[in-house]
Amino acid sequence: MRRWLILVVLSLAPVAAGSAAAQTPPVAANGCLMCHGVNGQGANGIPAIMRVQSRADFTATMKLFAENKKPGTIMGRISRGYTDEDIAELSAWFAKP
Ligand code: HEC
Repeated sequence: MRRWLILVVLSLAPVAAGSAAAQTPPVAANGCLMCHGVNGQGANGIPAIMRVQSRADFTATMKLFAENKKPGTIMGRISRGYTDEDIAELSAWFAKP
């Protein structure tokens, strides 16, 4: 019985460590939350961004803003402040699974 328990605990440890890492937002995401809500749920008429778009669509949206191909009041300027690497991280963080 005790051996069984140890095996279960050992086999779950890497899963727990992995999910803890996945729950840490990329630093760049912090700059989004003051407008999009603390959980990216949307706030004050600003759209929700958490788990709304697929990863590919999120990346495409950010690039369209940056290239002035998607109209917006502020996102054009904001999206130009991030590298492709940042956008990939942001897309992974905010995209729906
Ligand atoms: C100053 C406030 C502000 C900040 C900061 C901000 N946004 Fe936005 N975001 C907006 C507004 C307002 C819109 C609606 C489009 C517009 O008017 O530019 C928007 C739209 C979006 C959309 C499109 C949502 C949709 O469904 O069409 C995405 C994606 C997005 N923001 C992502 C981000 C990300 C990622 C960050 C951080 C890097 C960020 N935003 C930071 C205000 C902000």
